[in-house]
Parts: sequence; C-alpha cells; structure tokens
Amino acid sequence: MKVQDKEFEIFISRDNIAKRIKELGAAISEDYKELNPLFIVVLNGGFMFASDLLKEVDVPCRLTFIKVSSYQGIASTGIVKKIFGLEEDVKGQHVIVVDDIIDTGLTMKEVLEELNQKEPASINLASFILKPDSLCHPLEMKYIGYTIPNHFILGYGLDYEGFGRNFKDIYRLKG
Ligand code: IMP
Ligand code: MG
Repeated sequence: MKVQDKEFEIFISRDNIAKRIKELGAAISEDYKELNPLFIVVLNGGFMFASDLLKEVDVPCRLTFIKVSSYQGIASTGIVKKIFGLEEDVKGQHVIVVDDIIDTGLTMKEVLEELNQKEPASINLASFILKPDSLCHPLEMKYIGYTIPNHFILGYGLDYEGFGRNFKDIYRLKG
C-alpha cells in the first residue's frame, strides 16, 4: 500500500483490533462500575480508537475531546505542549485519557500534568499503541491495546503526513 512517497505493509488486521478492543472495553467496564468515568480523547489520532472502545464500555460514562498544541516555551524549556478545548469540569471526576499512540511519552506526560492540576478523583491512561523502546518518561499505563517495537505505523487514526487515518487496519513502513 502506497501512502504519499512510502510503501506500507499490513501489520495488525481489523479483526484482531476488534477482538482486542472488546477486551479493553470489558476491563474498563469492570474497573469503573459505579464510577461514571469521563473519557478525555486526544485528537486527532485518538478518534477511531475512542469510537470503537466506547462502544464496548457498558457503564454510564461521558466523553469529551481535547487537542494538544505545541509551542516554544520561554527560556530553555523547548517545546511545551498545552491542552486546549477542554470544557468539562475535571475536578472530582474519574478520568480516562484516550490516545492513539505513546511514542516518547512527552505529549502524554504534559497532558497528565495539566489534567492533574484540575484535581480529578483519579486518572488512567488508555492508549491503542505503546512503543516502549522510545519511551523517555515513566508513565503508568493501565489500558494498552498493543505494545510494539519501534516501527512507524499508520491507519486506524494514525497518519503519515496527514494521510491514512481512515484505514481500518494498521500498516507499518516497509523496509
Ligand atoms: P510522543 O509520545 O509525545 O512522542 O508523541 C506521540 C505522537 O507522535 C502521536 O500522537 C502521533 O501523532 C505521533 N506518532 C508517534 N509514532 C507514530 C507512528 O508510528 N505513526 C504515526 N504517528 C506517530
Ligand atoms: Mg496523537
């Protein structure tokens, strides 16, 4: 499969993904009985995972979306990530942050720090993919779809130069 200038090959099939998401949804439903969790989905990549995952959650819950923007911090802090779009009151809520992939973990670290300042009752992370070899911050991750080596992947919400987010399967860069 060619996307822009690169060749990709199938890596995780849609059937496999559906099975795995059923398991994650069941685990969350079990863990969050009576807790009315608030799912906070990180756009853009998290949209497809969140859509399928939420269909497998059978406890009362709410859902909202955020975006994470990067900007140059003052002094020598480099790139700083900030949440925007969060309208729900997080205080006292049982939050589950939903994202497509944790690579270096930098984005998620800053998202969690910012959310923690809003005093949620609890906060857990659900990521469709984890690449542990590139992780450079310790992160506590409760719900992970797949742990993979350092391949570049796309599909199922993940993009290459903006393309491929609509694919039903996950592909990896050939070579
Ligand atoms: P990090 O965990 O802060 O390094 O950033 C994770 C972000 O990098 C994700 O939300 C994706 O947008 C992007 N990313 C990392 N690895 C991949 C990949 O294999 N395919 C597509 N996007 C990726
Ligand atoms: Mg993302």
